[in-house]
Amino acid sequence: MKVLVIGSGGREHALVWKLSQSPKVDKIFCAPGNAGIAEIAECLDIKADDIDALLNFAKYEWIDLTVVGPEVPLSAGIVDAFIKEERRIFGPDKSGARLEGSKVFAKEFMLKYGIPTAEHKTFSSYLHAEEYIRLKGAPVVIKADGLAAGKGVFVCETVEEATDALRQIMKEKAFGDAGHKVVIEQCLRGEEASFMVLTDGNTVVPLATSQDHKTIFDGDKGPNTGGMGAYSPAPVITKSLETKIMKTVIDPIMKGLARERINFRGVIYAGLMICDGKPYVLEFNCRFGDPEAQPILMRLDCDLFEMLKATAEGKLKDAYISWRNDAAVCVVISSKGYPGKYEKGKVIKGLDEFRDDKDTMIFHAGTSLNDGKFVTSGGRVLGVTALGKDIQTAKENAYKAVEKVHFDGMHYRKDIADKAIKKQ
Ligand code: AMP
Ligand code: GLY
Repeated sequence: MKVLVIGSGGREHALVWKLSQSPKVDKIFCAPGNAGIAEIAECLDIKADDIDALLNFAKYEWIDLTVVGPEVPLSAGIVDAFIKEERRIFGPDKSGARLEGSKVFAKEFMLKYGIPTAEHKTFSSYLHAEEYIRLKGAPVVIKADGLAAGKGVFVCETVEEATDALRQIMKEKAFGDAGHKVVIEQCLRGEEASFMVLTDGNTVVPLATSQDHKTIFDGDKGPNTGGMGAYSPAPVITKSLETKIMKTVIDPIMKGLARERINFRGVIYAGLMICDGKPYVLEFNCRFGDPEAQPILMRLDCDLFEMLKATAEGKLKDAYISWRNDAAVCVVISSKGYPGKYEKGKVIKGLDEFRDDKDTMIFHAGTSLNDGKFVTSGGRVLGVTALGKDIQTAKENAYKAVEKVHFDGMHYRKDIADKAIKKQ
């Protein structure tokens, strides 16, 4: 079988790596991919949002399954375009992708179907929004409505910070049209966790739990990023909490999708805040989390191709899914300056040390090849991911590998998984 994976991050490297282990898969293409992916798949010079070119390629090459990694092509309707041409594709259509593509839509959906979430108000007028912030006071959370690569959310401790965030989103248009509307939301305090399920619209299968680290600096300080590291499982999600999440969050989502006639085939990701044992939804994503996919896919102990194909075909109930008992930890290494303007073109050393170690993977994100050398080409550069018998061991293994890698200006958090270790 031939598979096309769309995207170029650590998530896509992990997807390609796991798909390549399937005896059913003969050939993998990745558009556009990165230097790490190029070692196990054929990378294509097609952008992840060039839907026409991707569809033409899938038709011309008789691709059996296309797997969409990032949210942008999903929101732009890649799945609708492929389905119209009867090409098999993993991911929700445009209507399903609105759960992630519009925070306003997601909040309205949650209210309508009784899904617990923070109180909020939506604004399209800067002046009204500013007045509301002064009235409500801080702490408060300001969110750009549309897609902003994980950077459009500001958790503000003071009214000044909040009005500054509002100005960036609505006046300076830091996220373009994504900031046309804003959601202003009550600030929740608790512990975060990522809860993902696979669904074909009928069957729902929870994936292994995980936890991301959103901010750039240790101790959850600094601006939000796409994610600086993750671990799986997330001990905060006990068996009984998982049951509660399925009942109060996932079941109502599925009911809502059915009512809205949205046939969702892909991953539903609920970003949760657990407050006094109760789950609240902070956001939805309509795809695997990144970096969460990296530790989760390292723990997957079955055929990812079969799993994704079954989902795309609406036959998820027949799929076999199993997980290793080991824990996994991923530490993201980023370029100097990220999540702001960052450096590029720095030579990366030390990547060969772990090639033969099955329990450590260095997933590439922003990397490319220059004169046969790996160089940095993005904000998040590598996702160093390791397995271990528990989270402590997985963390030690991941950091051992991080220490072998070097490029100028590299940055990584030193406290990935510490919260989970304290809990055990
Ligand atoms: P989101 O992209 O909506 O998940 O937001 C990014 C991050 O901002 C989350 O992972 C949380 O750390 C934080 N956040 C979002 N909404 C809230 C909220 N209502 N209360 C507290 N923190 C929040
Ligand atoms: N790591 C968070 C996300 O994928 O949106």
